[in-house]
Amino acid sequence: MNILLLGSGGREAAIAWKISQSPLCDKLFIGPGNGGTDSFGTNVNLKPTDFPAIETFCRENGINLIIVGNEDPLVAGIRDYFAEKMPEMLLVGPAADGAALEGSKDFAKQFMQRHGIPTAAYQSFTSATVEEGCRFLETLKAPYVLKADGLAAGKGVLIISDLKEAQNSLREMLGGMFGRASSTVVIEEFLSGIECSVFVLTDGHGEYRILPVAKDYKRIGEGDTGLNTGGMGAVSPVPFANKEFMSKVEERIVKPTVNGLIKDGIDYRGFIFLGLINVCGEPMVIEYNVRMGDPETEAVMPRIESDLLPLLIAVSKGNLGNLELKEDPRTAVTVMAVSGGYPGSYEKGKPMTGLENVTESLLFHAGTAKQDGRLVTSGGRVIAATSYGEDIPSAAAKSFAAVKAIDFDGKYFRRDIAADLC
Ligand code: AMP
Ligand code: GLY
Repeated sequence: MNILLLGSGGREAAIAWKISQSPLCDKLFIGPGNGGTDSFGTNVNLKPTDFPAIETFCRENGINLIIVGNEDPLVAGIRDYFAEKMPEMLLVGPAADGAALEGSKDFAKQFMQRHGIPTAAYQSFTSATVEEGCRFLETLKAPYVLKADGLAAGKGVLIISDLKEAQNSLREMLGGMFGRASSTVVIEEFLSGIECSVFVLTDGHGEYRILPVAKDYKRIGEGDTGLNTGGMGAVSPVPFANKEFMSKVEERIVKPTVNGLIKDGIDYRGFIFLGLINVCGEPMVIEYNVRMGDPETEAVMPRIESDLLPLLIAVSKGNLGNLELKEDPRTAVTVMAVSGGYPGSYEKGKPMTGLENVTESLLFHAGTAKQDGRLVTSGGRVIAATSYGEDIPSAAAKSFAAVKAIDFDGKYFRRDIAADLC
């Protein structure tokens, strides 16, 4: 089978690493990939949202299966496009109707309300109802959670402790702070608890598998301080997501989500990412995403013992059947090395050295590129190191050693990834 994986981050590097080990994988292409994905397949210069160019590539290269790594092509309707132009193409990822779970927070909240899925109370507002929105904020307790309805590259959520500031931000958001993405704003109740990420693979026909559970570290600074980033590290499994918690997640969230999609007439074949919060032992949904998480994937893929490719093929065919998804019992900890200045402005093109000294960890490139045969940085999140261990401290120690061994000008990483769970 020939496969095209769309995306260019650490998540896609980890998926490529996993898929390339499958005996069912003949040729693997990554479009566009990065400076490291070419060790698992062939990078091709494709933009994941340029559907006609992807179609041409697929026809010329006998692609049988497309795996969509990031949300943009899904929200823009890549499944719908291929269903029309190349109906024989297998594709992992929902059509635009299902991708709205991530593409519209208002849609996701309505979906959860309709299907009785536990989530924060909310109301949505537009520029026509901005004054109502300001009054609604007065009825809530601080801090105030304001979310741009549409995709905003992970930046569309504001959590503000002062009421006046929250009201001003609501006006600014509705006035175009995030462009069209914030023409509707969801205001919701603040939930207090510890978060985790649960990933589900579902086939659109009621079958699903739950992948190893993970927790990511979003803030730039140690002790979860400073600005939000795409993610500075991850750990899997998550000790508080024990059997009892996960059985609540499955009964109250996974099953109603999978069945709710079917009830709503949405043929959802792909990954569902449940961003959960543990509120005093009770799981609640913070958000849905319609793809795997990054950097969670870099910790989750190494913990999947089974060949993932047969599961992905079955999902894309709508027939998961009784295929098994076996977990590796070991702990995996991922530490991300980022460019100095990130998530603010940072320089690119810094030569990278020392990767060959990393022998006890997996390296998943994120923002790297090859320039005249040399490896250089090309993004904010540069490279992830994932290590196995019998417990969190032993896995984390190896990943910290790995990112220390890699050198580039301005390198930064958090030294406390997973320390809160020890
Ligand atoms: P989202 O893009 O919806 O995941 O939001 C980004 C981050 O904001 C989440 O990972 C949470 O840390 C935080 N957040 C979002 N919604 C809430 C909420 N209702 N209560 C507390 N924190 C939240
Ligand atoms: N790590 C969170 C995300 O991928 O959205």
